[in-house]
Amino acid sequence: MTKEAHASQIYLSYGAWAERQGFSGIANFLFRHSQEERNHMIKILEYILKRGADVMVTGIPAPPENPTTINHCFEKVFAHEVDNTKAIYKLVKMSLTEEDWATWNFMQWFVKEQIEEETLAMSLLDKIKIAGTKKSNSNDLYSLDRDLEKAPDEAKSAQDVTVDNP
Ligand SMILES: [Fe+2]
Ligand SMILES: [Fe+2]
Repeated sequence: MTKEAHASQIYLSYGAWAERQGFSGIANFLFRHSQEERNHMIKILEYILKRGADVMVTGIPAPPENPTTINHCFEKVFAHEVDNTKAIYKLVKMSLTEEDWATWNFMQWFVKEQIEEETLAMSLLDKIKIAGTKKSNSNDLYSLDRDLEKAPDEAKSAQDVTVDNP
């Protein structure tokens, strides 16, 4: 739960950073994603309660330092998603060891979600790298920014997801 909340804070702070760099489309994308990460946290909270256990809401670590460039921003985003995936795999392993099949089943949604998120982060990195190799760097970044403003991402579908409607 705290890791998802932390991810939400990271996207929030990077979004604010991107907005200040003049990339409002990228900022919009990051803000939407921040909301998605928060929904992941809620999904875990609801599951714990549904299974009749206590939820412990703890402090959220501060987001890391701001990125230096848009490329750096998405590199950091990707690294964080990989880190989150590892934490999810740990839970999957624990549920397997403890033969907690309900949790094992619940965690499969997150396994799938992380595949999508890593793919998304990687494809954005590719797009930015292509933009960075051309001389018209700022123009390409500008069009990427515009694309992300309205780009359909999983943010919308994941927002609709609840424990009752996975
Ligand atoms: Fe997440
Ligand atoms: Fe994520």
